Amino acid sequence: MSFLVVKRAKSFKIDLSDIASDKSISHRCAIFSLLSDGASVIRNYLMAEDTLATLEIVKKLGAKVEFFDDFIKITPPIKINEPPAILDCGNSGTAIRLFMGFLASKEGFFVLFGDEYLCRRPMKRISKPLKSIGALIDGREDANFAPISIRGVKNLEGFEYESKIASAQVKSAMILAALNASKASSYTEPHLSRDHSERMLKAMGASILSENNSIKIEPLKKPLDPLDIRIPSDPSSAFFFAVAAAIVENSTIRIKNLSLNPTRIEAYKVLRKMGANIEFIEKENKYEPIGDIVVKNAPLSCVEVNENIAWLIDELPALSIAMAYAKGKSVVKNAKELRVKESDRIKSVVRNLKACGIKADEFEDGYFIEGSKMSEAVVDSFGDHRVAMSFAVAGLKCGIKIEDVECIKTSFPNFIDILSKIAEVNIGD
Ligand code: S3P
Repeated sequence: MSFLVVKRAKSFKIDLSDIASDKSISHRCAIFSLLSDGASVIRNYLMAEDTLATLEIVKKLGAKVEFFDDFIKITPPIKINEPPAILDCGNSGTAIRLFMGFLASKEGFFVLFGDEYLCRRPMKRISKPLKSIGALIDGREDANFAPISIRGVKNLEGFEYESKIASAQVKSAMILAALNASKASSYTEPHLSRDHSERMLKAMGASILSENNSIKIEPLKKPLDPLDIRIPSDPSSAFFFAVAAAIVENSTIRIKNLSLNPTRIEAYKVLRKMGANIEFIEKENKYEPIGDIVVKNAPLSCVEVNENIAWLIDELPALSIAMAYAKGKSVVKNAKELRVKESDRIKSVVRNLKACGIKADEFEDGYFIEGSKMSEAVVDSFGDHRVAMSFAVAGLKCGIKIEDVECIKTSFPNFIDILSKIAEVNIGD
């Protein structure tokens, strides 16, 4: 499957209960299960390329991974195995960065690797603070690019680290390192980033104290309790369909069993601010608040997005499609992190919108979009799953062909099946 054609859609009213499971939580379930001494039971693990690659790594590190009809069971090894092979993280920044933090204190030699896109993404944000507490890490350009090699050391030093970026991947890597450090550590970030790691590790028994954007982490005195979790659907994956309902006249969608974690649903709030009719219905709260989101089409108007960026960074490509259909000039600022995602998303989004006849341009830390009518076009995914899916949604209004859509399988393997419930789609080589 190398291209996807999406035809214009008529209005739709549907309930979706088959949105892919949450990617961030799935990676964490696999990695955190290695911190316990019992078997973790995980329902709804995301069966996508990236998260399956993480399970392969967990296996290479010595865990037993068993697949049952509606759950997987991960039994950790007594001692982490030093694998005689590289650990391939595929396209996943979360996997490589969290494994860096985890493996830095594990006895042995480990090499983390990934695809061509991952090997271009910056790793110094993790290797530098880890090296400053005694980790032995190397890689191209002073440990900034994969392949990354790690020679695990027994005891890392405790730390007081103030991160310049609000990144859950950096924070989680440092938490994993702190759990094996010689004394208590603290970590502060400029704004709170997604907090799945803190929530899950606390529920497993770790001593982590959170206060606004700071956390204190005590080293582990004993293994953590195993996980017993049902992973909710991914609000970032669901957001493509939220935008679909917001832009296609007279459409309504109810998306079921999503994580309603406040650090993950900011994009829905922005879409609501733009005029879409959006309702959040919380149904349970164990590791995370979980519930349904209902989105109804309404005329959209422009918006300026310049705060809480870490809470909607993954949704900005899809939100840009809503901006392209909104009345007026929308602006995204303070979003430089977009440049180091699976593609340079500022460039990818702006180039594709221009190809569709929309007036848009880049700033160093964002872009502007003048809403009007998108025209039928051929666009590129730039090898980036979220760019591919965002423009597929744009196609529901204007008709579109997207080149190079293999990448969709990294996070949302059934995306095209769901899309085909609301529009005619063709896929081909
Ligand atoms: C993620 C954190 C975010 C996000 C990524 C998943 C995570 O990245 O963009 O898709 O699971 O921790 P940063 O930590 O780099 O902001």
